[in-house]
Amino acid sequence: MSILPEVGRPGDEVLAALARHRDGDLRADGRAFAFVYDAGEAARDLARRAFAACMPINGLDPTVYPSARSIENDVVGACLELLRAPAGAVGTATAGGTESVLLAVKAARDHARATRPEIARPAMLLPQTAHACFHKAGWMLGVDVIPVAVDPVTFRASVDDARAKWTRDVVLVVGSAPSYAHGVVDPIVELAALAAERGALCHVDACVGGPVLPFLREAGVSVPEFDLSVPGVTSLSMDLHKYGFAPKGVSVLLMRDAALRDAQYYACATWTGYPIVNSTSLGSKSVAALGGAWALLQHLGREGYRELARQMWSATCEVVSAIERTPGLRLLGRPDMNLLALTTEPGDVFELGDRLTARGWHTQVTYGFGPSPAHLHLTLDPGNARRVGELSRDLAACAVDLPPRAPLPEGLVAMLHAVGEGALDPRPLMAELGVSGGGLPARAAMIHRLLDAASPATRERVLVAFMGGLMTTKGVA
Ligand SMILES: Cc1ncc(COP(=O)(O)O)c(C=O)c1O
Repeated sequence: MSILPEVGRPGDEVLAALARHRDGDLRADGRAFAFVYDAGEAARDLARRAFAACMPINGLDPTVYPSARSIENDVVGACLELLRAPAGAVGTATAGGTESVLLAVKAARDHARATRPEIARPAMLLPQTAHACFHKAGWMLGVDVIPVAVDPVTFRASVDDARAKWTRDVVLVVGSAPSYAHGVVDPIVELAALAAERGALCHVDACVGGPVLPFLREAGVSVPEFDLSVPGVTSLSMDLHKYGFAPKGVSVLLMRDAALRDAQYYACATWTGYPIVNSTSLGSKSVAALGGAWALLQHLGREGYRELARQMWSATCEVVSAIERTPGLRLLGRPDMNLLALTTEPGDVFELGDRLTARGWHTQVTYGFGPSPAHLHLTLDPGNARRVGELSRDLAACAVDLPPRAPLPEGLVAMLHAVGEGALDPRPLMAELGVSGGGLPARAAMIHRLLDAASPATRERVLVAFMGGLMTTKGVA
C-alpha cells in the first residue's frame, strides 16, 4: 500500500492511526527517569490548549504577528527576572537547548570577529561534562573545542585546568548549571572571573537548571551562584521544554547586553526576496511551544514552580540516601538539583540497568567517558517524584548479587574493532547484536558492555548507522 493515499481518509480514522503510532512511546506514568518532564495532567492540558491556540502564528515576522513579539518578550522578561539579569540584558526564544547553545557560540564567535580581529581560529574552553551540543556548535561554526578536565570526585570543572589550557584564541568559557549527567553546578563564579580577566565571554548552560535552581534557592536549598548576577557571565541558556514543563520546542537564550545579541542575529539583504533578519537559526518558525511556555509560566507562577522544585528535591534526597545505604551502589558526585548518576561496584552497572528495565523502570544507560564511569542516569520530575519510594526499593533489590562484568565475546570485539577502523560497515555488527529492527532488545547489557569498551569514535560510527537504520521508511498503517 502506498503511504500517501490516493483518496484521503476520514479525520477520525487518521487520528486513530496516529494514536497507534504512539503505542510504543515512553509514557509519563512516573516510571520514566529520563526524557519526561511532566508536571501532571492539568499542566499538560493547559499546555496542549495554549499550543493549539498559538499554532497559526509565524514567528518569522513579529511585525506581521505582533503576538509573536509580545509572547516572546513576556517569556524572555520572566526568565530575565528569574535569572537576576542586570539592566540592559536581553534575550531570545529558541527551539530548544541545542539551538540556544548554537546561537550562544555563534554570538561569541561573531562578537570576537568584530572586537578581536587578531583571532584567526576561535576556540572555547569546554568542561568534559558540558552537553554534547557544544561540540556540535563548535563543529558547525568552526570554533575549536579545548577540553577542560573535571574533578573525578565532584565532577565540577577544574578552574586550574581552564587557566592552564588558555590560549589567546579563546573567545568563550562554558560552565554548566548543572551538568546533565551528574546534576552538579560548575564553579561559575571562578570560570566567569577567569573569562572576564582575559577578555573572553562566559556562557552558563542552565538548560536544565534555569527553571529549577532559582526556586530551590527560594525554598531554602543551598544553590551555588550561577546566574546573570555573577560578574563575567555574558550569556545563559535555559530550556522551558524541560523544567518549564512546556511542550517540546522552546528554550531561551539570555544575553548580558544587546550588542552581544546583535552578534547572534542573522540579517541578509543580498537576494531578490524580502529582507531577512532572523533572531534564531530558523526562518518560518512555530510559536506554539512558546505559547505553551507562556501559559505555564502564568498559570503556575513562582509559587507553583517553587512547590514543584521542592517536591523534586525531596524525592532526589530520598533516592540519594537509598543509593548511599545500598551496598554495591555508588553515587557519582553530589547533585545540586534533581538529576543524578549512579554506578555499581563491583557489579555490572549494565546488568543493573537490565534488571530495572525488567521491573518496568526507564533509566538512562550512559557509557564511561573521561573520569566518569559507565552509569545509570536519573532525571527526576514531579511525575516520577511520587514513585521514588518504589524505585528505591527496586534499586536495592536489583543490586543484590549483581554479577561482575561478563567478558565480551571475541568475535564481537573483533567486529567492533573493524568498525572502529572503518574496515567494516556497522550494520552486520548491529544485526548480530539484534538491534537492526529498531529499539534495543529487553536485555541490552551485552550491547552496552561492548559499546562502553569501544572508543568514542567507534561509538559515533555505530550510532550514525543505528539512526540511519531506524529512519528508513517501511510504510505505515
Ligand atoms: C545541560 C543541557 N544543555 C543542553 C541540552 C540540549 O537541549 P535540547 O535537547 O533541548 O536540545 C541538554 C539536554 O538534555 C542539557 O541537559
